[in-house]
Amino acid sequence: MEGAGPVTDGKGLTLDDLPVRDELRGKSPYGAPQLDVPVQLNTNENPYPLPEPLVARIAERVAEAARGLNRYPDRDAVELRTELARYLSRTGGHPVATENVWAANGSNEVIQQLLQTFGGPGRTAIGFEPSYSMHGLIARGTGTGWISGPRNEDFTIDVAAAEKAIAENRPDVVFITSPNNPTGTAVEAETVLALYEAAQAAKPSLVVVDEAYVEFSHRDSLLPLIEGRPHLVVSRTMSKAFGAAGLRLGYLAAHPAVVDAVQLVRLPYHLSAVTQATALAALEHTDTLLGYVEQLKRERDRLVTELRTAGYEVTESDANFVQFGRFEDSHTAWQRILDRGVLVRDNGVPGWLRVTAGTPTENDAFLDAVRQLKKEQRA
Ligand SMILES: Cc1ncc(COP(=O)(O)O)c(C=O)c1O
Repeated sequence: MEGAGPVTDGKGLTLDDLPVRDELRGKSPYGAPQLDVPVQLNTNENPYPLPEPLVARIAERVAEAARGLNRYPDRDAVELRTELARYLSRTGGHPVATENVWAANGSNEVIQQLLQTFGGPGRTAIGFEPSYSMHGLIARGTGTGWISGPRNEDFTIDVAAAEKAIAENRPDVVFITSPNNPTGTAVEAETVLALYEAAQAAKPSLVVVDEAYVEFSHRDSLLPLIEGRPHLVVSRTMSKAFGAAGLRLGYLAAHPAVVDAVQLVRLPYHLSAVTQATALAALEHTDTLLGYVEQLKRERDRLVTELRTAGYEVTESDANFVQFGRFEDSHTAWQRILDRGVLVRDNGVPGWLRVTAGTPTENDAFLDAVRQLKKEQRA
């Protein structure tokens, strides 16, 4: 049929034949498998759909925004940043003003804007791995060199080794993820302060505390640490606690000068009027959504207890997911669990897998699968 096929010269041109940047050659894009199985516990999403009253409110606010779609949106997203500042002030243990907050399409875009501003060609960023792999990938995408820093055996940050790596490499950006993905490990305020001091002595550099999962933590937010530390940024997202991964809304809190700096790289009108309206509607329902977070924290703690009872090793978790093991061959274990209709994540941490806390029914299905797996392994 005319026009139905792909446009090609018929010679099997591949990505490698294109004049892409050298550092992208031979690389694969980020992507967790999106498999159609009954129980999907692999991408740290919130399992609860948005409540109907919120869905109705989103429809109302989006309809209002639609009436003005002939115009560009508020480029500075002032109303949204004000509401995000109000949320942070209420829950983060530290007063935050509109000028301290910046928002973008997911915290991935926040991180990208930070690396475009403070990283880039000839500059480097460091993270303590295993951690969120997108930090390194966004570094690559922005031409920033990536340094993989160490962790202890128990996945906490080895402070002395981290300080040494910062002093030796003098990175321009330091990533600290708390709670950490994929391990669930929370970072002590003292550790952040020690690494901040090391980073300032070495360069000075920007320290980004990625708090994507902080609402699920047993501990307080590290947000108060921005006070008096103009090079410290806390990044957050509505993808997890607000159950709005599909919305694509991330934000940061920092000194107003950092917010001014990212204006140099952000695309004009990057945050659509529809996104801003939807996020504002979700923030009106904060209390209901945080109620789901409490349920998920209880489910996360149940997963930790039940996995241990079943004979697994579990990393202490402050997130909405749990790292469990150990497996001689984690990929085979992942496949066995998948064979029972449950999709978990093989993050490439040797010996370990990660499961996201789902609904009680989903978690029961997961626990049945891993108990079975243990029986097979013992047999
Ligand atoms: C540690 C961490 N930071 C940031 C993100 C990105 O979140 P989003 O771009 O959906 O806000 C994720 C997503 O899984 C994450 O695990």
